[in-house]
Amino acid sequence: MNVDVRVADDPARAAAELLVEAAGHVALSGGSTPGRTYELAARLRLDWSKAHVWFGDERAVAPSDERSNYRLARTTLFDALSRPPEAHRIKGELGAEEAAALYEVELKGITLDLALNGIGPDGHTASLFPGSPALDERERRAVAAEPGLEPFVPRVTLTPPVFAQARVLIYLVTGEDKAEAVRRAFAEEPTGEVPASLIRGVETIAILDAAAAAHL
Ligand code: 6PG
Repeated sequence: MNVDVRVADDPARAAAELLVEAAGHVALSGGSTPGRTYELAARLRLDWSKAHVWFGDERAVAPSDERSNYRLARTTLFDALSRPPEAHRIKGELGAEEAAALYEVELKGITLDLALNGIGPDGHTASLFPGSPALDERERRAVAAEPGLEPFVPRVTLTPPVFAQARVLIYLVTGEDKAEAVRRAFAEEPTGEVPASLIRGVETIAILDAAAAAHL
């Protein structure tokens, strides 16, 4: 469960550089942190036609909705590329249960080469919130989940075994409001109260700014 913790002057760029090196199956996240990473990644590599892009989680909304993680990736990354990747969208507009069931089928046989995750101030990652039953899921690859924080819409999330098989899992976390969650995720015993403390890839890299790393 070792984590390679890197404190970077420009975490978005450090994450973008790892993202563009990844080939194959890549899972992206949403939230407010990764947009700049996606913009930089588009500038660093214009041809993503060999990549398959998945989503670590999604909100049960239409792809045009401002809260859609797909929309974030489309507007910051896909639309800026000469050759976009094959995007495997979670169809949130169908409702969380149906979207999760469809994603489960689509994910069959897929091993992620890279997953880019964030951490919320409550320690959640993807849509695995503190105390969530999804943390105990061992069979299914995608499940419906309840939100623990804004936006309060039902979610679909990848499950712990999918992240555990990911060749590289990157946590990109910035800001002092995340410092305590970062400490609990990387410097304390794993617990379901801090989902990010449980979620690790085959290799796990945490890219932090100094503020997020302040309590380590
Ligand atoms: C989501 C995300 C989520 C995110 C964290 C951090 O859909 O909400 O995938 O897990 O990574 O909440 O989000 P911020 O970058 O907004 O702090």
